[in-house]
Amino acid sequence: MDTFGEPGEAFAAHFGSEPAMLVRAPGRVNLIGEHTDYNDGFVLPMAIDRATLVVARPRSDQMVRVYSTSMQAEDQFSLETLERSQTHPWSNYIRGMLKSMLARDLHIQGADLLITGDLPVGGGLSSSASLAIGVGYTFQLLNDLNLLGEELALLAQGAEQSFVGTQCGIMDQFVVTLGRAGHAMLLDCRDLSYRTIPLPTEARVVVCDSGVRHELVASAYNERREACHEAVRRLRTRLPKLMALRDLTPAQLQEHADLLTGKLLPRVRHVVTEISRTVHAAAAMEQDDLAGFGQLMNASHASLRDDYEVSIPELDTLVELACALPGCYGSRMTGGGFGGSTVSLVAHDAVPAFATELRAGYQAHTGREAHTLVCTPAEGVRLIAIA
Ligand code: GLA
Repeated sequence: MDTFGEPGEAFAAHFGSEPAMLVRAPGRVNLIGEHTDYNDGFVLPMAIDRATLVVARPRSDQMVRVYSTSMQAEDQFSLETLERSQTHPWSNYIRGMLKSMLARDLHIQGADLLITGDLPVGGGLSSSASLAIGVGYTFQLLNDLNLLGEELALLAQGAEQSFVGTQCGIMDQFVVTLGRAGHAMLLDCRDLSYRTIPLPTEARVVVCDSGVRHELVASAYNERREACHEAVRRLRTRLPKLMALRDLTPAQLQEHADLLTGKLLPRVRHVVTEISRTVHAAAAMEQDDLAGFGQLMNASHASLRDDYEVSIPELDTLVELACALPGCYGSRMTGGGFGGSTVSLVAHDAVPAFATELRAGYQAHTGREAHTLVCTPAEGVRLIAIA
């Protein structure tokens, strides 16, 4: 029982029985490649050493009881009548994941679950994908299902799209499932092939949470995605082989810019340049070219701010402050945007002063409190303890 530690004790205290299994699903931070995944492009995220923990015990019926320590709330539902919860929105990632699994004709039994961990919720570190994958993997193990990591990630993505309503790409679920300790992951979101790249030892990844959470993030996100689809529809009138913005070269973009009226041109320009930056950034990392990598991060932020328009003034302030601090190679907003966090690449010996000064500068400029987190690349979802 010792191996279950505090999460096991919390489970026993809540459910009055010992747990059978403990699963850890990390959060993620994206180093570069933003809003490229749903355009069949490249992304370069890493799983992090902050995670959702799922403590579980199987049941012999079809009921699921789930207690969240951060929400301090319990939800209960039957696998036979799985619907969206109005009272416990956090539980929809769990309900949606299980519904996705059932829709695949996977046979699953009920369970008691306790959700805990040290991943900040809603801070742009993919706590939702982490929750869905953690729960999906737990049910996979409890029910002896034969799912590849890639399938689990796709099921979680489908769940978020249909059950929660964000038309998200595959990046978060994929790296949360298949991330590798010490490495970032260059993922080709078209065919899901990837290669892992060791993070240079002389640099650290520093995440800074702006503390701003915008409402309507899902609708703004879906709107960006729709703009990309609309651009592809228009471009296909002249480029019939174009499947996604991934296929558009910078020269073609220039040649057919007249089709992209209004905001479509800057939106597409972001996607095309960001995909190219991501591939170059991966190469820079492989060559230990931290300065080159940092410049690409800065350019990515400018593009997200000016062309894709998903940044907010607080994130811009954090990036500006970070770039002016000693030891910072580069900085950008990370994740979907409209709030959340920035990510900076910082020389390891400069990190303590960097974090302190960044928080102080942010407070002075905005009157808000920011939280910094030094992240190490962690392993994807895994079983931690079994009774
Ligand atoms: C969110 C989505 C991802 C990705 C990013 C933007 O995190 O879940 O699929 O599109 O935004 O890069």
